[in-house]
Amino acid sequence: MCNTENKKGKAPIGVFDSGVGGLTVAREIMRNLPNERIVYFGDTARVPYGSKSKDTVIRYSRQIIRFLRTQDVKAIVIACNTASALALEEVEKELDIPIIGVVKPGAKVAAASTRNGRIGVIGTESTVNSHMYSQLICSYQKDIQVYGKACPLFVPLVEEGWLGDPVTEQVAKRYLDELLPKGIDTLILGCTHYPLLRPLIERLAGERVRLVDPAYETAHELGLLLEEKGIANRGEKASGKEPYRFFVSDAADKFKHFANSILPYDIETTRKINIEEY
Ligand code: DGL
Repeated sequence: MCNTENKKGKAPIGVFDSGVGGLTVAREIMRNLPNERIVYFGDTARVPYGSKSKDTVIRYSRQIIRFLRTQDVKAIVIACNTASALALEEVEKELDIPIIGVVKPGAKVAAASTRNGRIGVIGTESTVNSHMYSQLICSYQKDIQVYGKACPLFVPLVEEGWLGDPVTEQVAKRYLDELLPKGIDTLILGCTHYPLLRPLIERLAGERVRLVDPAYETAHELGLLLEEKGIANRGEKASGKEPYRFFVSDAADKFKHFANSILPYDIETTRKINIEEY
């Protein structure tokens, strides 16, 4: 392998989300691609993206990508379902490094795993209304029925830490009561926060329904992409000074606290930047 490739392999992956949710994606990258370094940006000042317009989410995504480029990232992962659904198609045209979102990997696996051709997608309002999951699923497999359901209360409940709370269970029942009678056999957890509710959703959905976690599928897809482009880090497990670096646009301490509760790694520093400058 030539030197330039080697050097590129050691560069970090840029991962971004509207806030803390994308840490579920960063977590899967840490678990499944332990050699890769990460620079994470959480847009905690402008969260949520899930109720914002396409133009706004594209503008925010462009700013974040400009910031991540200053960190010399070798590839970018849009860890946010909403930004993947609304902005990926636009921003990928403007980039000369690989970029992936979470929607396509989730859609691909769901299309391959359904037996009865009925798939449910839960996500933010913007993700569900974009119909991006259904478009992609149908591009892999025609004749699949996709049923979307926006679950806007899940994000604040997860951020409140009410993962096993009876209130969360009531809310989840109410949302799923609209989807489950459609006879779905596959359900996509189409929002960064939902993998944290997986045990509850799994129990309510029952064993006939297979859950698809786009965070996990994205880490897998990212590994393949890095190999294909010849930029996987072939060195040692990510270590040394700050293999994982975290930046936010606000409330750095709150972010750090949440991150330390879900990551297999203790964050020491979270830096606040002014994203509007990019
Ligand atoms: N990260 C967002 C997503 O996956 C959820 C939070 C938000 O609305 O910004 O769609």
